[in-house]
Amino acid sequence: MRLVVTGGAGYIGAVVARRLRDVGHQAVIVDDLSTGHREAVRGFDLRVGDFGDRRLIGEIVGDGTFGGAIHLAASTQVGESVGNPAAYYRNNLERSLALLDVLREHGVGRLVFSSTAAVYGEPVALPIDEEHPTRPTNPYGETKLAFESALRWYHAAHGLAFASLRYFNAAGATQDGGLGEVHAPETHLVPNVLRAARTAEPVPIFGTDYPTHDGTAVRDYIHVEDLADAHVRALEWLDASGGGSVFNLGNGAGFSVLEVIEAARRVTGRTIPVRNAPRRPGDPATLVASSDRARRDLGWAPRSPGLESILETAWRFEQAHPQGYQSS
Ligand code: UFG
Repeated sequence: MRLVVTGGAGYIGAVVARRLRDVGHQAVIVDDLSTGHREAVRGFDLRVGDFGDRRLIGEIVGDGTFGGAIHLAASTQVGESVGNPAAYYRNNLERSLALLDVLREHGVGRLVFSSTAAVYGEPVALPIDEEHPTRPTNPYGETKLAFESALRWYHAAHGLAFASLRYFNAAGATQDGGLGEVHAPETHLVPNVLRAARTAEPVPIFGTDYPTHDGTAVRDYIHVEDLADAHVRALEWLDASGGGSVFNLGNGAGFSVLEVIEAARRVTGRTIPVRNAPRRPGDPATLVASSDRARRDLGWAPRSPGLESILETAWRFEQAHPQGYQSS
């Protein structure tokens, strides 16, 4: 199937694009390269631009050969979203609605959307399933949830087949070490811990007084290739079912910040210096997914559920790309 992949040059998007190609889909990537990397999508049809640009998207899908879109492009920093909500409403909602209009105009009836555990806010029950209340605590989660609502109504009104994938903590790199996580600045735990392993610069531990077994925050780390696989399965499910659902994607196992650091010490064989730091505002103590719905409906199951296998691939990438990617 011909597919538009927005944000396809980003960390998760590039792995998704590669997986789509491996199973025989043809992806046209739309990415403004604000956080994505040209080097991550060598050999792909990359259109550098704004996914909310009606003319650009119209030019791509206007020939009527496109079967669907994978919409990953977004602003994704929780902290930034609290300080600059307008950017999040504009990028994650307004531009996404513009994209939706153009897709509809040209009869592109399938959409797989990148959503997030941040739609749930502070958990009231664990593990978190899709029936858990959605009370986002920041504009990032709020705008992702708002777009999910739009998808539900477009599904009801226009028959749009959608699957919204609520990622928990994406981590790891492709098995060949070629595609991995590079953000500037990097805020995520796994790349920061591995950089500390390489450079011996201490990694901050944001909060040591959480109500968890060791006082540090607990997350559900899911391998980026397992996330990519879920996109392929979601596309198949859209055809089988007509779509219209949300799916959590996680391993169902929680690891604390200290446990991640300990596992990284084992995987890298390096000393990893740490420094204790205050909590980051808005970080919940524990986020662990129930992904039973994805397992049941999409036939999805993580292939690399172990934390160490996630860290091994990320470490391979970190060593191969100490300066990140060579191009922006
Ligand atoms: N952390 C550290 N040190 C670091 C980086 C992170 O201690 O250098 C801690 C964080 O405070 C948090 C945990 O490690 O407790 C994981 O942090 P990440 O930044 O890797 O991931 P988050 O859980 O904050 O973010 C993820 C997704 C977001 C999503 C959010 C939902 O990346 O897109 O979950 O809360 F919004």
